Amino acid sequence: MSRAPSRVVIDCDPGIDDAIALFLVYASPELDVAGVTTVAGNVGLDQVVDNALRLCDLVGGPAATTPVLRGHAGPLARALRQPDEPVHGAYGLGGVELPAAVRPVHPGHAVDWIADQVYDSGPGEITVIATAPLTNIAALLHTHPDTRERLREIVVMGGAAFAPGNATPAAEFNFHADPEAARYVTESGVPLRIVGLDVTRKALTPLTDADVLIADGAPVTSAAGRMLRHLVERYARRHKVRACAVHDALAVAAAVRPDLLEWTDAWVTVECAGEFTRGALVADVHGRTGLPPNARVATGVDAQAFRTFLMTRLLDRYGAHPDGGHASNPDLLTDQRRK
Ligand code: RIB
Ligand code: CA
Repeated sequence: MSRAPSRVVIDCDPGIDDAIALFLVYASPELDVAGVTTVAGNVGLDQVVDNALRLCDLVGGPAATTPVLRGHAGPLARALRQPDEPVHGAYGLGGVELPAAVRPVHPGHAVDWIADQVYDSGPGEITVIATAPLTNIAALLHTHPDTRERLREIVVMGGAAFAPGNATPAAEFNFHADPEAARYVTESGVPLRIVGLDVTRKALTPLTDADVLIADGAPVTSAAGRMLRHLVERYARRHKVRACAVHDALAVAAAVRPDLLEWTDAWVTVECAGEFTRGALVADVHGRTGLPPNARVATGVDAQAFRTFLMTRLLDRYGAHPDGGHASNPDLLTDQRRK
């Protein structure tokens, strides 16, 4: 008998990979979305909010009535630093213009709203999937400490335990943007799973998949394909590879199909004071500190299985040809690879 859907809050900063993550969330019957909360990160908060509203309206159905809330406009203890080069394009969605949002943002602050959801739900019912700087989540755990033992878990896209960073040599963007918040969340005692660059960089989405989505031509698949193409073009320039990491979508996949990844329990924290290491995820996988593990860290991923999972879900849920003959047929993906 299938398990009841997990009730989730998505805390995000769309952002292209956040957009793909949102599409995947709403293509996953295992997840029941309580709400989408926003925080400054890839772009400023006003743009993040507008992007989140447009994306939910584009998905339609239950997404069009999902509350979208404004969260923090910057880190807890530092000035907000926007990326020097807009990785996700000027407005955060790779230059893909979506129809204007048809509804306003939900009133109230995201942090208080998440707290209300947690208090109004049974203990262990709400999972937070965090795909952005952890400012909102740290604020939640600080200002509403009772939520700590009521949350089911927090699945975080962030950090790089054993791999180079992408914001600095030592730090991944979400943890670097607000290291104090990241540290607070990692040391909060809430069940935590961390999906970092260690695995997201191993599960790339090739340009051919973006082209399959564009060729499908439905509103969501086409938008997803064009956003991914923007990211691939950036990867091609910087990394000489015609593919891109869809970091946040892998965090959603981890919440739905944790078996797609390999995990190790470790005591973790986030460096906040290092001159060159601010935001670095420190993972004690060998027990050197003697401190008990406080997180499950993703250390491996079945890249092909994730790729098929993502494409199948996007095309089955949003595709113009949901009757199959697309990514649920792995041969098609293979064929795409050969082109
Ligand atoms: O380092 C990748 C993370 O930073 C992703 O969440 C991406 O959207 C950016 O926010
Ligand atoms: Ca993000």
